[in-house]
Amino acid sequence: MEIFTEIIHPIVLKRLKEYSDQTGAPLEELYRQIKEKIGDLSNKYKTGREDEIDYGDPLTRLAYLYTYVPGLSACLTEVLFSVKQTFNFEEYDEIRCLVFGGGPGTELISMAKVFENEGIKFFLTDKEAKWYDCWYEIRDRIKYLFPDRKIQADSTEVDLCNVDDFERIKYATQHSQFVFFNYVVSELYKSAPHFFRFLEQVFTHLPSKAIIVIVDRSQREIINLINCLIKEFNLHKTFGLPKTCRTDEDFKGELVQKIGTPPRGKYFQTYQIVAVKP
Ligand SMILES: C[S@@+](CC[C@H](N)C(=O)[O-])C[C@H]1O[C@@H](n2cnc3c(N)ncnc32)[C@H](O)[C@@H]1O
Repeated sequence: MEIFTEIIHPIVLKRLKEYSDQTGAPLEELYRQIKEKIGDLSNKYKTGREDEIDYGDPLTRLAYLYTYVPGLSACLTEVLFSVKQTFNFEEYDEIRCLVFGGGPGTELISMAKVFENEGIKFFLTDKEAKWYDCWYEIRDRIKYLFPDRKIQADSTEVDLCNVDDFERIKYATQHSQFVFFNYVVSELYKSAPHFFRFLEQVFTHLPSKAIIVIVDRSQREIINLINCLIKEFNLHKTFGLPKTCRTDEDFKGELVQKIGTPPRGKYFQTYQIVAVKP
């Protein structure tokens, strides 16, 4: 399965055409605006201003989907292949995943790629409800690409800085074997005390042996926060490494030509942690 060609490119193109029909903005103008949003996102990630990103803006979401999801899901796919080799999944007839800050559902793409023979029950949460336009598209595309597989996927709105939201996902937490924080800690390090109050609930209610996958930028403050989280909640770290990730996928197609910048296929500084709840 080619992530960009088979999933991301058709979705972004479809959503852009729909957006153009709804707003009357010509497609050429939208390509220009997407390019601008890509520059803006890159700037905010580079300068630690993730908290200023407005994922509620439809073109920002499409810019993210186009630029970051192909590379980030390829990177997470690599991590999950290692997880698959390290742990035994034979006893499960379906794998239950809980995703925090899942945005468009990057994690579902990677799960579908790696766990080809297992059923997947997937629950995505994010603070930004408007992500659901991209998320439904990704979910439906995965179901279309794998019609014979047992994949169930739902979502709900959850703010990791609001501990009152935990009640809504308590049941899902108690029944999850996999928990994901993919490029989310970097969005929350400025609100660490609130984030940790929420995490306390998560790690108290997760079943024992649950696998926690954290991938993020390998910057000092983010690594420190991740290591502090592992220690504070007594998680057993199985592996953790700074690593460069790249995808071999050739980014081609109408969008690449029109937007003029290819998606980001290389991530030089990633920090990958897989931990287990004892
Ligand atoms: C860089 S994106 C990562 C999305 C997805 N995990 C991925 O790998 O593509 C960060 C996500 O964190 C979400 N986020 C930011 N602050 C949050 C919070 N307080 N609670 C829940 N989600 C949050 C954003 O809405 C966004 O979807």
